[in-house]
Amino acid sequence: MLKLPGLIDPHVHLREPGQTHKEDWDSGTSAALAGGVTMVLAMPNTKPPICDESTLDLVLASAKAKARCDYAQFLGAGPDNVDWDKYAGLPHRAAGLKMYLDSTFGELRLDDMTLWQSHFQNWPKGLPIVAHSESRSMAAVILMAAIYDRPVHIAHISLKEEVLLIKAAKERGIKVTCEVCPHHLFLTSPLPSGEGPGVRANGRLEVRPRLATQADVDALWANLDVIDCFATDHAPHTLAEKDGENPPPGFPGVETLLPLLLTAVAEGRLTINHIIQKSVINPQKIFNLPVQSEIWVEVDEKAAYELRAADMHSRCGWTPFEGWQVKGRVTRVVLRGREAFKDGKILVEPGYGKNVREK
Ligand code: DOR
Ligand code: ZN
Repeated sequence: MLKLPGLIDPHVHLREPGQTHKEDWDSGTSAALAGGVTMVLAMPNTKPPICDESTLDLVLASAKAKARCDYAQFLGAGPDNVDWDKYAGLPHRAAGLKMYLDSTFGELRLDDMTLWQSHFQNWPKGLPIVAHSESRSMAAVILMAAIYDRPVHIAHISLKEEVLLIKAAKERGIKVTCEVCPHHLFLTSPLPSGEGPGVRANGRLEVRPRLATQADVDALWANLDVIDCFATDHAPHTLAEKDGENPPPGFPGVETLLPLLLTAVAEGRLTINHIIQKSVINPQKIFNLPVQSEIWVEVDEKAAYELRAADMHSRCGWTPFEGWQVKGRVTRVVLRGREAFKDGKILVEPGYGKNVREK
């Protein structure tokens, strides 16, 4: 038996309010516990998006009633909420500010770079900013972080050019950190360019950033030391939606993160220390998260089995890793002294999870 600290997933989508047929605070945090994740940071692209006090109150009320693991909630950067200095105390109640600078699921997207600047200037200096920024917009947001001399965390990097740019920025002392998702480490686009009829025809492969090439995946693995965190971008959509017209982008992932990483450890591609650094210690530092006691995950490192959505807790009912052979099973999770998960069963009630931004 291997004992790990509880994992932190700094990037999940829980769909409540507004789209609870995909996921809610109960099902999403149950999936987290089953995956050995004891704290999640939830993204703001819900319906409505979380951009002000009333929507933050709304989502935190659901979370308080239903979350089974610990959590914090991001605020979204929009066109109308740049005056953060006027919203006394609001930023401190959030996990951080999420800026959507490239297209993805939901309505939050900032095209106007003067709005990026305003958010960078007005969001309190000590609090995290996370950017969904791909390729050239990533270069632009890193420049902005340098100009305003404040840290920025880049969500879900996927390309060779991105990891190399972040490496170069870090070497020059720019305060940039980044995360990578399991699907960008373990899956490639079926077509070399990431475009084409084969890709568009299969909604189950739709995800933003898109799956990339083997050369991109190899570059991520070769530069693991540049990558600060593992994050799942757990983005549940139902199978009917993924297989239907205009499939929404996104993969569930919070329940498959640790088995996939442990399998990479068994194959000698990763170490347990990497997992602890990138899924516990670095997220704590980057997002100013409390170091809590009596939180651990027990793993049967030798258990070999097949990943199956039917055994999982997410409401979306599928996984892009269906049928994958993995090695390493989460057997027990202890959260703040209580047995929260054991042998496939969730043992804490909805509402046991704590908002880590609440005093
Ligand atoms: O594929 C994605 N799905 N990428 C994102 O950035 C958002 C997410 C979602 O919310 O479904
Ligand atoms: Zn996301």
